[in-house]
Amino acid sequence: MTSGRVIAIDQGTTNTKAILVDGAGGIVAKASSPLKSTYPRPGWAEQSAEDIWASVRAVITDIVATGISDIRGLAIANQRETLVVWDAGTGSPIAPAILWQCRRTAQACEALIESGAGPAVVDATGLSINALFPASKLAWVMENVPAAKSLAAQGRLRAGTVDSWLLYRLTGGREFATDHSNASRTQLFNTDRLAWDESLCALFGAPLSALPEPKPSDSLFGHTVEGATALPAGVPILTMMGDSHAALYGHGVRAPGLVKATYGTGSSLMTLTPRRVMSRHGLSSTIAWSDRDGTVYALEGNITVSAQAAAFAATLLGLADTRALSDLAQTVPDSGGVTFVPALAGLGAPHWNDNATGTISGMTLASTPAHVARATFEAIALQIADVFSAMEKDVGTPLRGLLADGGASANDFLMRLQADILDRPVSRGDQAEVGAIGVATLARRSLGMGSNGETEEIHRFAPGGMSAPERDGLLRNWARAVTQAIHDR
Ligand code: G3P
Repeated sequence: MTSGRVIAIDQGTTNTKAILVDGAGGIVAKASSPLKSTYPRPGWAEQSAEDIWASVRAVITDIVATGISDIRGLAIANQRETLVVWDAGTGSPIAPAILWQCRRTAQACEALIESGAGPAVVDATGLSINALFPASKLAWVMENVPAAKSLAAQGRLRAGTVDSWLLYRLTGGREFATDHSNASRTQLFNTDRLAWDESLCALFGAPLSALPEPKPSDSLFGHTVEGATALPAGVPILTMMGDSHAALYGHGVRAPGLVKATYGTGSSLMTLTPRRVMSRHGLSSTIAWSDRDGTVYALEGNITVSAQAAAFAATLLGLADTRALSDLAQTVPDSGGVTFVPALAGLGAPHWNDNATGTISGMTLASTPAHVARATFEAIALQIADVFSAMEKDVGTPLRGLLADGGASANDFLMRLQADILDRPVSRGDQAEVGAIGVATLARRSLGMGSNGETEEIHRFAPGGMSAPERDGLLRNWARAVTQAIHDR
């Protein structure tokens, strides 16, 4: 085994984290730096691109300050679909980073859908037209940021996802590239040809010349320059990957059959497919990663409000926190027929309805706060189950189980409930930093350090706590309540 260490950065929406991974795949240091988002108008969400960069510099400084040396490479996992635009002449952003959550282009996307553009976009990218993706965000920049058009005309405009922005800064402006997984989430990338799609760029009004060079996720993306960070010059950037994709890699998934679910504010589920599969059940088709073995495709489903439903319900019931909600939920054996559909910001995969609203249904005089609390955890698990089942339909074969990560996956009660509702085993790893571990693993492989180091799924939750009629009843009530949440407004 080769000696040396790799810094893996997970640049997320609320935090930038870094881990230092040694030759054996062990984590020997960690750092974290918080990040602020701003919401200047209803539906808008932004971050300062300089702040994103500063947070990455901060975690690198902290890792270097540990004095642990022999850093052989850098790996980056990042929040996806967030657009950064900058001027190559000055190296400075020309607008705030438009966050993946930002809905400012929702109307423009509606208009595009009404114009009939949808099928061609899905065909090329695997993604239904939506304000989430950078394509419409870049169109907005071209129309609304005064400098954008003239910079584009001069060949100075740079528009990329967070990975490309960080690479640009790490390499002192020498490299402008992205990886295939990040590119596949822009809605401008043809995931079959692995190239930017000229007709989509024309459709969205996105200048092709402003986009980064798309490369495999394990490319030699460039080298650090002196002064950019606390690292010396010449440290290679060896891996870049979107965070959700990196988490799947970090769980050790290399072949179809298992599903990864991240239990965060929202949830992202991803499963590998043997080839590029177009969803017929409300999911996205995407590139998981590409490496020396080729391009690996996946299906993804994003749930808008997942663990956030627990925080919401805790506040609603006047409880201190989600732990109190979880304790209360466990005082009853079932939800007594109460169903909570947390469509608090519409419904994401697989239902996709922006207008759906949250509902609590099935109440009787016998219903108590404990039933509502239990219904909340059931809802988190049932939403995941809906995506899981859509994945099974698209793939055409049963999926073996679920690999859980993210904050709420630490709740054993929720994990047991999830296994019972899915009727499949659910496993949870031993490390919280599964995304960073994913990119560190791929980078270590590039360095010939071996490919061990993924998280060990040490906590396993087997189904068995729920009878089949019980599960069927729960699923039936849920399906009825979801239809209501979509139509009752
Ligand atoms: O698709 C958006 C996702 O990549 C954001 O991840 O971890 O920053 O919430 P996170």
